Amino acid sequence: MEYKLLMEKAEEVAKNAYIPYSKFPVGACVLTENNKIYTGCNFENSSFGLTICAERNAVGSAIADGEKKIKAIAIFSPKMNLCYPCGACRQVLYEFQSDNGIDIILKDNDELKIFTIEELLPGGFNL
Ligand code: THU
Repeated sequence: MEYKLLMEKAEEVAKNAYIPYSKFPVGACVLTENNKIYTGCNFENSSFGLTICAERNAVGSAIADGEKKIKAIAIFSPKMNLCYPCGACRQVLYEFQSDNGIDIILKDNDELKIFTIEELLPGGFNL
């Protein structure tokens, strides 16, 4: 699966973000070990703390379909170059990384930049 395609899907799903409060759309697209893909966008709530990030929405869809090992995720916001995942999402990605880790794909102008979870979350929590 091409990382470019994952990013295209992240860009597309960002259009569905429900963002009346922040006006900050985010889209995410995950690729699992079985080469299945799932997308997610952020959706907010008037009780602000209930907001769900795009990344966790996409991961949740994968889990619900029985896919628990994620090998890559593309993250995109039209409002921010290099839209890094928040700290909470980094820990969620840490939990569901594949045996070979997880590539975190961000858009840097017209280029894709790839980070490992170890780079973005050194010493992630593990029971
Ligand atoms: N947001 C995400 O969807 N992912 C992140 O990793 C960072 C933040 C969303 C949450 C909220 O709807 C908006 O961006 C502004 O924080």
